[in-house]
Amino acid sequence: MLKLGVVGLGLGMTHVDAAQQCGEEVALVAICDANRDRLQAVNGDIRRFTDYGTFLRESGADALVLAVPHDLHAKMTLEAMEHGKHVLLEKPMSTSVADGERMVASAKERGLSFMIAQNWRYTPWCRQIKSIIDSGELGNIRMIRSDWVLNFHDFYPKGTWIYDGQRGGGGAVIGLVVHNLDYLRFLFGEVRKVYAQHLYTDEWSSNRAENMSMIQFEFESGALGQMLTSYTPFINQDSGPLQVYGDQGMLTAKRMFPEHIYVTSSSRTSAEKAVDRRFDEVSVEPGEPFAVTQLRHFAECVKTGNKPISSGEDNLGTIRLVESIYESARTGEPVLVGCL
Ligand SMILES: NC(=O)c1ccc[n+]([C@@H]2O[C@H](COP(=O)([O-])OP(=O)(O)OC[C@H]3O[C@@H](n4cnc5c(N)ncnc54)[C@H](O)[C@@H]3O)[C@@H](O)[C@H]2O)c1
Repeated sequence: MLKLGVVGLGLGMTHVDAAQQCGEEVALVAICDANRDRLQAVNGDIRRFTDYGTFLRESGADALVLAVPHDLHAKMTLEAMEHGKHVLLEKPMSTSVADGERMVASAKERGLSFMIAQNWRYTPWCRQIKSIIDSGELGNIRMIRSDWVLNFHDFYPKGTWIYDGQRGGGGAVIGLVVHNLDYLRFLFGEVRKVYAQHLYTDEWSSNRAENMSMIQFEFESGALGQMLTSYTPFINQDSGPLQVYGDQGMLTAKRMFPEHIYVTSSSRTSAEKAVDRRFDEVSVEPGEPFAVTQLRHFAECVKTGNKPISSGEDNLGTIRLVESIYESARTGEPVLVGCL
């Protein structure tokens, strides 16, 4: 049984709930948050810490989930690893490739599991999409579009670290569509070239936190991609369609939120003429909460030493892509990913 601690109790509460639903595989032994009120909101006979150093020394946890502001990800992960703890770290892994490489190297040196909570990879809809893409029924994938807009003002009060580009490592790209970027790599392979333009129109944001971005991609496969994101749309309507066009068929995912995802696909083999093709719903079942699936996978990897599906090592590719997007927006030029 994995003895787990959870650090940071905003989104971290999802991990607390997941740990309590995992049954015998995971025991939640401790929680840590600098905010005492958040510590008190958790039920159960568990140890509670306001100081991270004391938590690392005294909690008795073998592994921890870190769900803290982005600028603390590398520092707190490295400290945890120095104490011999396995780490499941919230997205984004880091605000720079260099920090990511330090964490990956530390985990390797100490034989620790290091996994990033890129939770879309653990959802039934993402698995369904992957199985359709991998089956080859859509033929060669030529064009991909993936968006996400979400009004952060409804979730994070003014003054929260997420609006500070220094603390967040940027804005909507690193804070929101890092999910889309990671799963595009998971589904379609690496991106070769990006071109990005950002807008900075949010009064609550500072230090170059972009609240809107448009990105153009060229994948190594030759496919073209496009992404639109904003964390301050006037109307808060979760969106995140995935549109995939292959030369033998297409696939659409209508919403990214896992409970309501609606995937349809159609291929040349399903009808003689395009006009006769029917779009079949292929997945709407939510299954178990994906945070539970994700945590079970982490516990399994700690036990077996297997590499996680969303390992830190794999995630270097996602952070490299994020860094290239920021470089393109800064210079106004297309950037070859991995050539920075
Ligand atoms: N996977 C998702 O869908 C998703 C959704 C939201 C947030 N996140 C990620 O979760 C992480 C946290 O975001 P959030 O929305 O919960 O932020 P938040 O500000 O609501 O919560 C962060 C918590 O960390 C605590 N904290 C900060 N510094 C600390 C320290 N030194 N020691 C102990 N506790 C400390 C704060 O008191 C706060 O309670 C970020 O990486 C964010 O990107 C992921």
